[in-house]
Amino acid sequence: MTILVTGGAGFIGSNFILDWFEQGPEPVLNIDKLTYAGNLQNLATVSARKQYFFFRIGIEETNKIRRLLGAHNVRAIINFAAESHVDRSIAGPEAFFQTNVIGTLKLLEAAREYWTSGEAPKDFRFLQVSTDEVYGSLQPDEPGFRETDAFEPNSPYAASKAGSDHIVRAYGETYGLPVLITHCSNNYGPFQFPEKLIPLVILNALGGKPLPLYGDGQQVRDWLYVSDHCDALNRVLSDGQPGETYNIGGNSERNNLTVVHTICVILDELRPLASGKSYAEQIAFVRDRPGHDRRYAIDASKLARTLQWSPRTSFEGGIRRTVEWYLANPAWTTSVTSGEYREWVARQYA
Ligand code: NAD
Ligand code: TYD
Repeated sequence: MTILVTGGAGFIGSNFILDWFEQGPEPVLNIDKLTYAGNLQNLATVSARKQYFFFRIGIEETNKIRRLLGAHNVRAIINFAAESHVDRSIAGPEAFFQTNVIGTLKLLEAAREYWTSGEAPKDFRFLQVSTDEVYGSLQPDEPGFRETDAFEPNSPYAASKAGSDHIVRAYGETYGLPVLITHCSNNYGPFQFPEKLIPLVILNALGGKPLPLYGDGQQVRDWLYVSDHCDALNRVLSDGQPGETYNIGGNSERNNLTVVHTICVILDELRPLASGKSYAEQIAFVRDRPGHDRRYAIDASKLARTLQWSPRTSFEGGIRRTVEWYLANPAWTTSVTSGEYREWVARQYA
């Protein structure tokens, strides 16, 4: 048997594939279009394995994917492929709806044909990797998002993910496709593209640049170390009930200012500035993001109760490991912060 991962050259997808091969030899097909966010270097340590196959294909290429499903006897699709950065969705929403909505629809069409042809194994699964951002924003004293909460997406990114989640659900209800949907909180860890808050702050700090905090920096996210997310996805894939949705969270709510301060304290210790100053002096409050969600928090009790999953990594442990990883991998960061990245940063933080 084989699994098919989409977007496996991105941040979470590549961590998922690396962790997958730690557990066993089951083959993986990785299909990725290699947008600016996809990087095959993330998979350098597994790329020579005979159980690993890479295809530069978009999720919208239904026919090619349909052929791969049959040829490799695929037992599960895990759909990570997406446009994933909120600020880019504000600057240019269309690509988000093309990939996240239309792309997911076309991927589902390949899965539906495979499933209804009778070629797919009986325990076939389609796992849609989604986000807590579909639920909108919470007040400070509200309980965390539950699976039964209504969708109230506020950014084009969140709206496109909400749209794709609805299509996945409809394919389960209408065609009997065995679908699973997960909504996870903010991830961090190795191989995250430095447009997102945590790697951006680490690299800007080391580069002597400002550490941009939007608005008052009091927005709250529930941070989850990426390997814990991958572990939860594995649990949902193996034991989740088709048709069900599962929220995945880190139980680690932190506001952005606290996150940035924590990174600065670790860098002050591991890479002290010659001036004796703290990296925290580089913090700069900048114009807020339009429609900026104030708080996300996850109630992951369904996953704990039904599938006995809970996060293993504390925020303090995970963020230290992450800073150490970026310090130890300057070649990776240099290669991803090339032309396109520099143009984005120049436009976004002008
Ligand atoms: P990412 O931007 O790092 O990676 C996305 C990957 O998808 C890239 O490799 C890119 O090349 C690929 N891709 C884009 N368009 C494609 C297409 N049309 N066909 C095939 N491949 C395509 O994203 P990420 O942070 O790894 O997120 C992965 C998934 O997890 C996304 O669906 C995202 O919505 C979801 N998610 C992310 C987080 C987070 O904190 N990063 C949290 C919850 C859920
Ligand atoms: P981000 O990593 O983009 O994830 P998301 O928007 O999906 O939650 O941002 C995390 C938080 O950090 C969010 O509240 C926006 C904020 N942020 C900044 O304050 N400055 C920045 O430069 C970036 C990229 C994000």
